[in-house]
This record gives sequence, structure tokens and C-alpha cells, in this order.
Amino acid sequence: MTTRVLVTGATGNVGRQVMTQLRAEAVALPRDRADLARPESLTGSLREVDAVFLIWPLHSGEALPGVLAEIARHARRVVFLCSGAVGDLSMDAQEELIRRSGLEWTVIRASTFAVNARWWTGQIRAGEQVRGAYGGLGLAMLHEADIAAVAVRALTGEGHHGQVYRLTGPEVLSQAEQVRIIGEVLGRPLRWVELDRVTARRQLLADGLPLSFVDVLLDAYAAMSSQPSPEITDTVATVTGSPARSFRQWVADHAAEF
Ligand SMILES: NC(=O)c1ccc[n+]([C@@H]2O[C@H](COP(=O)([O-])OP(=O)(O)OC[C@H]3O[C@@H](n4cnc5c(N)ncnc54)[C@H](OP(=O)(O)O)[C@@H]3O)[C@@H](O)[C@H]2O)c1
Repeated sequence: MTTRVLVTGATGNVGRQVMTQLRAEAVALPRDRADLARPESLTGSLREVDAVFLIWPLHSGEALPGVLAEIARHARRVVFLCSGAVGDLSMDAQEELIRRSGLEWTVIRASTFAVNARWWTGQIRAGEQVRGAYGGLGLAMLHEADIAAVAVRALTGEGHHGQVYRLTGPEVLSQAEQVRIIGEVLGRPLRWVELDRVTARRQLLADGLPLSFVDVLLDAYAAMSSQPSPEITDTVATVTGSPARSFRQWVADHAAEF
């Protein structure tokens, strides 16, 4: 039997990859037809759906229980991508809601997305420097294609019910090292320039990040700087059979954007 999968966030980085990798089994759920902030708006789209790839792009988790109840009324399975950006619902609390949903469930906890390097595109196009704070901060940059590959296995295969998959990229790289790698792939010198927090805040705003996110991001970087470096997992390889793609690979896949 073919699994019919509804994909939320299908226009986003991860959802687009899930759509591509699922091919015929996928049905996109556009925001104009179903707004995650309004659970009742999902009903029509859930008919004859077996599984749902669910992201939570909202800053509040208020509607998540309602969305899960709506999914559970129609579908059998949910694969949920946890988000650290939900102000009023921690990742543990999101996970607990998924566990209690009555659905067959899989939770994906992803490390920092490699796509965050896109924040630097303006600076990289304009010169040879990337200016920011916490250049020494090590992050396990994860390719969106790997998140999608794990999600697709969990959406369509067996043996993933009740699993919390902690995904990371294959190595920890400081922000300064990421900038150097981008330069190497693009074939031109690029270097990190360390800024104090106040100047870095201005730079992030100039780079186009929303005001509501800039302080959240800098606070998160400050907190991560005082913690041990992220632990690399082999979950991508275990679930998909292929090792996690490197940050260098991500840059090569996205070189045209820089
Ligand atoms: N960046 C990281 O390091 C990181 C790490 C872990 C988890 N995450 C989380 O992973 C998730 C997916 O990331 P991504 O990069 O694929 O996201 P993205 O590229 O920003 O895309 C977000 C998607 O969500 C849709 N969306 C936004 N508001 C919606 C609403 N009210 N109802 C329905 N759909 C809505 C957008 O649709 P439109 O096209 O209509 O806007 C878009 O398809 C995010 O929730 C993010 O917080 C990120």
C-alpha cells in the first residue's frame, strides 16, 4: 500500500526536501489552505492521509495540541521536527505532546541547520569578511537533505515509532571555520572578523534578520558558548544508511546563492 503523506512547511528548507525525496507519495500543505495557528483549517487537507510531516514554525506552541488532535482524527502517523524557537513550549514539552497524541510518532531533534549560513550571503557577496560575534562557537551544521532523508524513512518505513532521533552534522565547526570553508568552496579568501555584541547586533539586523530574532539568537549563542561543544551523533547514517553530509557539501550544493 502506498503511504500518502501530508507535508507542512513544504515551501521551506526542510519541507521542500521532504517533498522531493517522497515524490509521488507527498501532498504539500500550503499555508493559505491550512494555517498551523488554526487547527480547524487542517481538516479538509487531512482526508485520506496516512502520515504527516509536521514542523512548528510558530513562536507560540498554543495551537500544537489542537493540530495534533486534528491529525489524530484522520491519520495514523506523525513525524515531528522539534523547534527551539517556540517561546512558550520547550522542546521537551513539544515532545511530550507528541508522545501523548495517540499517533504513531517519531520526533526529530536537529542540531543547527547549515542553511543558517545564508545569513552571511550579503556580506560574502560584498567583500572578503564576515563580521559577527562568537566566531569561536562550535556548531554541528546539519544539511536539510539529511533531516528530510530521516523524516522520509520515518514517514514511510517501519520501526520508527516511539523514536527520538537526535541529528547532527558530521563535525563541529566554529563560525570562523565555516566562513573559511565557504571561501575555499567559492575559490576566494574569506575571513571572520569578531565583533562585540552591540556591533554584532547591528550587523545581524543589516544582514536582514528580524529584530524579534536577533537577541534570541545572540542569547542562544552566549548560552551555547558556555556549554560543552555539541556531541556528534551517527543517527543520520543509522537511519538512512548514508553518513551525514558535510558543511563543505552544503556550501557546494548552495554555492550559487553566495
Ligand atoms: N535553523 C535551525 O538551526 C533550526 C534547528 C532546529 C529546528 N528548526 C526548525 O525547523 C523548522 C523548519 O525549518 P525550515 O528551515 O525548513 O523553515 P523555513 O524554510 O523557514 O520554512 C518555514 C515553513 O513554514 C511555513 N509556515 C510558516 N508559518 C506557517 C503557518 N502559520 N501555517 C502553516 N505553515 C506555515 C512556511 O510557509 P510559507 O511559505 O507560507 O511562509 C514555510 O513553508 C522551523 O520550525 C525551525 O524553527 C530550525
